[in-house]
Amino acid sequence: MKIQVITLFPEMFGPVLSTSMLRKAQEKKLAGFELINLRNFGLGPRKTVDDTPFGGGAGMVLKPEPIFAAAAAAKKAKPKSQVIVMTPSGQPYSQKTAESLAKQSGLILICGHYEGFDERILSLADMQLSIGDYVLTGGEIAAMVIIDSVVRLLPGVLGSQDSTADETFSNGLLEYPQYTRPEKFRDMEVPAVLKSGNHAAIAKWRRQQSIKKTKQIRPDLLGK
Ligand code: 6GU
Repeated sequence: MKIQVITLFPEMFGPVLSTSMLRKAQEKKLAGFELINLRNFGLGPRKTVDDTPFGGGAGMVLKPEPIFAAAAAAKKAKPKSQVIVMTPSGQPYSQKTAESLAKQSGLILICGHYEGFDERILSLADMQLSIGDYVLTGGEIAAMVIIDSVVRLLPGVLGSQDSTADETFSNGLLEYPQYTRPEKFRDMEVPAVLKSGNHAAIAKWRRQQSIKKTKQIRPDLLGK
């Protein structure tokens, strides 16, 4: 999968893309990243990317021309890529969306910054995504969230021992509690069933705990 990111702040991505699973995915040639600096597509000698809003109001708004030019350059390199605009007014991102994006051959993530962007930019988008009901200064951190959650689902990125099948959200429930040594820490003991060697009993306990935890912490998930 090729992931191209259009951003005014490409330097934000360096450490995230070169650490842990995202680094390994690149080394194994399962994912490739291209950071496209929106400033390079700015207008005039000052490489202008934003302007004041029509109708008045605070802040600056990203102009359409630089983003259209950057997206055209990205598409030229990878014509079948899905174009995703990162915005707090987008569709809420979920594990389900991550799973569907992981089937694409390419993604172009467009990050806005400042107060917002010209509405005409949305005509470029196959999808608009928000990572939650709060406002970030820009789309960059949200784009990194998409990148991490999608790339870890690509076949071969995680070892078979790190299966994604049991984890939180993959079956609509929160994940069951996990324990490791020591058996007793302070006054907290590992549940006896996990040490019983009875695989059916362990599976049953885990399922019950998943449901209990989901009821307590995320009852909204049970409705779905
Ligand atoms: Cl995608 N962008 C910004 N700026 N804020 C957000 C967001 C995206 N998702 C949640 N908050």
